[in-house]
Amino acid sequence: MTNHPESPSTHVVVLLGSFRADSYNRRIAERLQSEAPAGVTVEIVTGLPDLPFYTEEIDNDSDLPAAARALRLRVAAADRVLAVTPEYNGTMPAVLNNAIDWLSRPYGVGALKGKPFAVVGATPTRFGGKWSHEDARRSATVAGAEVVPDLVLSHSTLDADVFEDPEVFAQFLGALVTLADHRPAAEVAA
Ligand SMILES: Cc1cc2nc3c(=O)[nH]c(=O)nc-3n(C[C@H](O)[C@H](O)[C@H](O)COP(=O)(O)O)c2cc1C
Repeated sequence: MTNHPESPSTHVVVLLGSFRADSYNRRIAERLQSEAPAGVTVEIVTGLPDLPFYTEEIDNDSDLPAAARALRLRVAAADRVLAVTPEYNGTMPAVLNNAIDWLSRPYGVGALKGKPFAVVGATPTRFGGKWSHEDARRSATVAGAEVVPDLVLSHSTLDADVFEDPEVFAQFLGALVTLADHRPAAEVAA
């Protein structure tokens, strides 16, 4: 997870909170991927709906669902985790919440433990997914992630033109760079 000088790139895994075919947030994630700066690779996880709902009864070596095992491995191998998500009824969509649950276990050593984590996204309302993003940050914190405290970026006036607006994507890309530059305190001290 560390970004040592000899590492060729910072690998960011995106957890996508919408699986709608024409999702605005999917388009944001794809733009972040296609316009990622040198030294940053972006992998988008679109398969969160394939995860069964979390229950401890299937969270063991013999019953662990393949989708959960694969997600844990992908996140464990990432340098950074970025949730790109809309808001549903004042909180994060269930697929994202469920993914964080899977990534929070085994307790104390889940794939999110110590992982730099941030949230961005967009909705068509004037709040831009504020509560969703707050809740995702809180949930990831409880799961042991190192949530990037000063990275709060949402956009609230979605329409087709917004994707042609370089200002908007400069802001989202700036957030990605901030995330890529982020170093855990222990790493800075080392
Ligand atoms: C069930 C449901 C609940 C929603 N609740 C909210 C909400 O609380 N706040 C908000 O800003 N938008 C809300 N929306 C609107 C979504 O933000 C909007 O549909 C958005 O385009 C979804 O993101 P996507 O385009 O990436 O799929 C809701 C939409 C649905 C379908």
